[in-house]
Amino acid sequence: MYFCVKFCTFFSFEASKDMILRNISILNYKNVAEAHLDFSPNVNCLIGDNGMGKTNILDAIYYLSFCKGYINQSDASVIRHGEPFMMLQGKYTRRDVDEDISVSLQRGKRKVVRRGGKEYQRLSQHIGLLPLVMVSPMDWDLIRGASEERRRFMDQIISQGNPEYLDALIKYNKALEQRNSMIRRDFRDALLYETVEAAMCDAAQRLHEARRQWVEVFTPIFMDYYHAVAGDGEQVSLRYDSVLNGSTMHDVLAANRERDMVLGYTSRGVHRDDLELMLGDHSMRRTGSQGQCKTYTIALRMAQYEFLRKASPTTPILLLDDIFDKLDAKRVERIVDVVSSDRFGQIFITDTNRTHLDEIMHRLQGEHCMMVVRDGMVNDDDALRYDDDDVNSNSNLDI
Ligand SMILES: Nc1ncnc2c1ncn2[C@@H]1O[C@H](COP(=O)(O)OP(=O)(O)O)[C@@H](O)[C@H]1O
Ligand SMILES: [Mg+2]
Repeated sequence: MYFCVKFCTFFSFEASKDMILRNISILNYKNVAEAHLDFSPNVNCLIGDNGMGKTNILDAIYYLSFCKGYINQSDASVIRHGEPFMMLQGKYTRRDVDEDISVSLQRGKRKVVRRGGKEYQRLSQHIGLLPLVMVSPMDWDLIRGASEERRRFMDQIISQGNPEYLDALIKYNKALEQRNSMIRRDFRDALLYETVEAAMCDAAQRLHEARRQWVEVFTPIFMDYYHAVAGDGEQVSLRYDSVLNGSTMHDVLAANRERDMVLGYTSRGVHRDDLELMLGDHSMRRTGSQGQCKTYTIALRMAQYEFLRKASPTTPILLLDDIFDKLDAKRVERIVDVVSSDRFGQIFITDTNRTHLDEIMHRLQGEHCMMVVRDGMVNDDDALRYDDDDVNSNSNLDI
């Protein structure tokens, strides 16, 4: 069955957004058999019960930007059970130019990503074209997960728009791998270590300096978002934890050489850096309540959005998955304020309950979409069209 939701006309805020996902066609992506959705350039809401496919639709949008789903998973697991392939097609307007991006994936074959019908040689050529930030319940891992999660968060943000950082990261990881391999094979040649460690030290110094500077700039932006959602009562901060704070990579490697030989790997270095997430003087991981952790991850992602917007030639898309869950009424209210403030570009937002989304709709000017997701289908019978008149008359807000 083919569902078509066609009700959004575009006006008002569009001028400030130079990248819009106009529509998406989905075929066999997770539990979505077939759908064609036309979107508003402003806020697009997806409501539905648990397990209906709301996250899957956001994930399909994410896929078109990053050539993979948000959750690390095998290629085959995104194809609808029992089907041989999946296909996604997104039509964007990007700086006044239409962009047609498609992804097709057949079981057991490599995925094919096309821009304007032309296949990319390498998927990395596509990354960055359609900037996007996802706020997801899976972001819980940023707080509770290992330091690797937070390093990835830092690396991802800093490397956007900073190719030298990415270069240092690649060089460091390569040298680290070489050193580990030499240790594992019990090499004792000092000259070999010198060469590999010189490359490591140079890259480590660059990474450390870039991360240190980034945390300084990122922290106040993050704090602003946290307070915008939580109010002013809670003090939060970010601390860059690195073995290079007050030392050099050269000294660190020399001091741990014997230890590393016994352990069989390089135990200290910027590959162990962490971003400590603080609530007052305590670590968020140990003291934060569910609602505080949720607020924390939302603020981290919104600050990430600000960074991406500055680093990108186009306004990023914002995906807000289940953000109201576990938050008290005051925080929900403040999030509604932030989301309806027009500081973001095109927004996609999911919820199980329409109260919050209705509230957002009421506050917004311009045109927005509301869609209902049931069993992987987006039903246009349930779709509502909001415009300024609706907001004033309140006439068709009830399903
Ligand atoms: N490859 C797949 N094929 C079919 N169904 C899938 C696949 N992957 C996930 N699903 C189904 O998608 C549903 C979850 O959808 P999701 O978008 O997370 O729901 P929600 O509306 O709660 O966000 C589950 O019922 C799950 O079984
Ligand atoms: Mg979900």
